[in-house]
Amino acid sequence: MSLLVIIPAAGSGSRFGGPIPKQFQPLAGKPLVQYVVERFLLSGMVDRIVVAVTDALLTTVKQTPQDRVQFVAGGETRQQSVMKALEADSAECDVVAVHDAVRPFFRMSTFAALIAAAREHGAALPALPLTDTIHATRDGRLTATVDRSNLVAAQTPQCFRYEVLREALVRAQREKFDATDEAGLAAHYGYEVRVIPGDPFNIKITRQEDLELAEMHFAEWSQE
Ligand code: CTP
Ligand code: MG
Repeated sequence: MSLLVIIPAAGSGSRFGGPIPKQFQPLAGKPLVQYVVERFLLSGMVDRIVVAVTDALLTTVKQTPQDRVQFVAGGETRQQSVMKALEADSAECDVVAVHDAVRPFFRMSTFAALIAAAREHGAALPALPLTDTIHATRDGRLTATVDRSNLVAAQTPQCFRYEVLREALVRAQREKFDATDEAGLAAHYGYEVRVIPGDPFNIKITRQEDLELAEMHFAEWSQE
């Protein structure tokens, strides 16, 4: 039994803006991506971590082959970054978790439930039912109200049996299909993907305001 964590951290953070990509913004005095890597290492559940970063950053990272954390060059899309990270890890593993570099507040209990569900069913993600009313719009005008009863908002970590993630990524690459997350990709190729209750505090730092919220939440946050 071994568990690999892939952290895609090669995005440009266009919605966040500013000179430093959001995954390197400090939270509690550490770059977000480092904070996330350390939480996984402390969990005691993880064997290895591969972080996909931009080429520019890669040249500054020093690594040795025995390190549990490996850095690789990411790709143009998140999915390509995940593929490159998976290809870089040559050791055997039975479950792979994919986690956004910019979600510092995932819960260990949810992570454990996701790993168990992935082992049993093949794939699992944390997600939250939508609470806001969802409208479709065009040219700044409301056109329709969407039935939200079956809609959920996806979070990470998303967990997969190794062969499920590998097969979905390889097929997607062959067919030039690009999904915004790996759970959606696995479902697209017909795999069963279990939905586990997510956590409202497991926010993704997308815009500047999210970092402000994260700093406020950090004051209350206790490491599990
Ligand atoms: N990501 C990546 N490689 C890419 C694009 C995104 O590794 N080519 C990573 C981001 O670094 C982030 C995660 O995927 O950790 C979630 O993506 P998102 O929040 O959309 O980040 P960005 O793509 O950087 O932001 P934006 O969409 O606003 O440009
Ligand atoms: Mg993006």
